[in-house]
Amino acid sequence: MILKNKKALIIGVASKRSIATSIAEIFAKNGASIALTYQNDKLKSRVEDIASVLETSEEVLLHPCDLSIDDDIRNLKLDIKDKWGNVDIIIHSAAFAPRELLNGDYVDNITRDGFQIAHDISSYSFTALAKEFRDIISPCGSMLTLTYLGSERVIKNYNVMGLAKASLEANVRYMSHSLGNDNIRVNAVSAGPIKTLAAAGISGFNEILKHVEDKAALKRNITLEEVANTALFLASDQSSGISGQVIYVDGGFNISGV
Ligand SMILES: NC(=O)c1ccc[n+]([C@@H]2O[C@H](COP(=O)([O-])OP(=O)(O)OC[C@H]3O[C@@H](n4cnc5c(N)ncnc54)[C@H](O)[C@@H]3O)[C@@H](O)[C@H]2O)c1
Repeated sequence: MILKNKKALIIGVASKRSIATSIAEIFAKNGASIALTYQNDKLKSRVEDIASVLETSEEVLLHPCDLSIDDDIRNLKLDIKDKWGNVDIIIHSAAFAPRELLNGDYVDNITRDGFQIAHDISSYSFTALAKEFRDIISPCGSMLTLTYLGSERVIKNYNVMGLAKASLEANVRYMSHSLGNDNIRVNAVSAGPIKTLAAAGISGFNEILKHVEDKAALKRNITLEEVANTALFLASDQSSGISGQVIYVDGGFNISGV
């Protein structure tokens, strides 16, 4: 029960296969109080269903939040402040780029709008959460985001999302210095490929899975549970000395050469 008495806000549940769903499940099992958000009304009932089966003794808080809308982030904060007073853990497990950009030639397909949207939702929104929530995150609090190797290596079809993840990882470092003044830690988990709704938007995703299976040190793909267990460690006081880091949960794929 390493998250006993901790309050965790988890953003990014869209389906049972979402990384955020696995994180919510393991956090609940480890004693955390849970708040979940849903991006829009279409996803509301799905998130309600997921909330209803979490193994937690307390009511799960549910709130709409579209990360592209400042008022949504503000209302989320006001609701959390009202219900909980403060929050210990914020998980940012959300990203978006227009689908037509996650395919084909990077330069031919990029647009100014698509570039801005990808960076806004996938990187700036993490800072926006920090800015809004800073005064109610407890000392020893932890903020965590999800990133991918496409930030530093060229991955076919990942295109503009690679740039947005590079921005997100730089964001983790700058945020960790800024929030470190309040004893709040900021980290990222760089997960290997997992079939989720977001992953389905990337052309040729099955080829990526096969390549990782062949080349990763562990000769297999990783599981949702493995990502969630690392999130558990980074959210808990067990990782109290770690901030500003990108931790790879990818079966050792990122260190593989020839
Ligand atoms: N699946 C993978 O292979 C993989 C690998 C590494 C990193 N990641 C990252 O993990 C995170 C979670 O993705 P996932 O794979 O669980 O997919 P997912 O589709 O289940 O989750 C993506 C989430 O982003 C949310 N989102 C998108 N735009 C939003 C907005 N404007 N406001 C609020 N929420 C918004 C969606 O509602 C959804 O809940 C993403 O940052 C993704 O880039 C995924």
